[in-house]
Amino acid sequence: MEKTALITGITGQDGSLLADLMLERGHKVIGIIRRNSSSNLGNASHLQSDVDLIEGDIQDLSSIYRIQKSTRPDYFVNCAAQSHVGTSFDQPLYTSMVTGIGVINCLESIRMSGYHTKFLQLSSSEMFGGRGEEALNEESVLAPRSPYATAKCFGHWATINYRESYKMFASNAISFNHEAPGRRGPNFVTRKITLAIASILMGESEHLYLGNIDARRDWGYAEDYCKGFLAALEYKEPDDFVFATGEAHSVSDFCKIAFAHAGLGDYKRYVKIDPMLYRPNDVPALVGDYSKAKELLNWTPEVDFEILVKRMVNSDLKDRIEIVRADPHDATDNNPDMITKFSQSNLA
Ligand code: NAP
Ligand code: GDD
Repeated sequence: MEKTALITGITGQDGSLLADLMLERGHKVIGIIRRNSSSNLGNASHLQSDVDLIEGDIQDLSSIYRIQKSTRPDYFVNCAAQSHVGTSFDQPLYTSMVTGIGVINCLESIRMSGYHTKFLQLSSSEMFGGRGEEALNEESVLAPRSPYATAKCFGHWATINYRESYKMFASNAISFNHEAPGRRGPNFVTRKITLAIASILMGESEHLYLGNIDARRDWGYAEDYCKGFLAALEYKEPDDFVFATGEAHSVSDFCKIAFAHAGLGDYKRYVKIDPMLYRPNDVPALVGDYSKAKELLNWTPEVDFEILVKRMVNSDLKDRIEIVRADPHDATDNNPDMITKFSQSNLA
């Protein structure tokens, strides 16, 4: 049966993918966007004709409550956050307000509206703080190492608290890192790498500056994870679910595959370490155990790490090659041999 879904953070990676998926499945989607002076819809540009976009801010209870009350959604998915861990060290109060208190504003809006809206909070594996290569699950201890992770713990526990106190359908999707070609924010490390590769191939830059390339993450494919989020909403009762692949790779592993796939060879020729990009406290490794989602939601990740990396490289290269084809003057300094070679071998 068709449902109405209210999605915050619809201009971001997950919110836009979830909107695509909900529309594909025949649901009605309403997206909350922040007012901004340049009207940039980000990843939601293609959704304008299919989705009702309403201005609101999760820091502002009145706006979220009014939208909840007027739209009467079946599902409310909170994809909004100040989601960059590094930035949270520079803007800790702002991050706490958006990523932490913002969740209470969503939950209170549902509670005060009196509707039986099902709520899903996008929690994060960062909350665990990481314990070597031990696979983390819903029962693992939370030990946040950043203002972002601390705020995520607040939102996570608030969701559980509203579930227990008010018998609300309020679930947490505890996701490990997941990426979407062309939609991942440019300052997350995976997209930073694939955009830099495109720029190196175009002859615009020679090096890529990174911080801690030994950090290990459990990287999955965002589209797979959005299917899991929908399954959590459709599950018979509210609960908390880990979404992960169960495998960790280092940032340098990502670079190795990405640069080689682009035909650039050894990444060490291009990657330079900038100590300024190290975080005051970084999670060394994260690996997830998704057994519960597998057992109860019948969810498993489909796209593996190597394919994810290659798809991200292809996506950013393809965009640049299309721009060059449309306007050759845009490519005065590019390296036509490399682009042609890559284009023939990988994008055909
Ligand atoms: P993202 O691309 O950074 O998107 C964040 C979204 O939140 C954007 O649409 C942004 O809008 C919106 N937003 C920020 N502040 C807001 C506010 N005050 N009011 C309303 N909207 C606001 O993040 P993502 O990767 O899609 O992640 C989605 C959610 O999952 C986040 O909560 C993130 O913390 C969590 N998560 C992500 C991952 C991952 O690997 N991607 C893993 C675990 C958890 P603007 O476009 O206006 O900035
Ligand atoms: N962003 C960034 N930029 N990270 C770098 C860089 C760099 O130049 N160099 C090394 N890294 C390292 C970071 O220190 C971190 O250890 C790792 O690469 C991944 O960084 P990000 O891509 O920024 O992601 P994240 O793991 O900190 O956070 C992402 O995943 C979380 C779930 O585990 C975000 O999507 C969070 O919102 C999400 O909760």
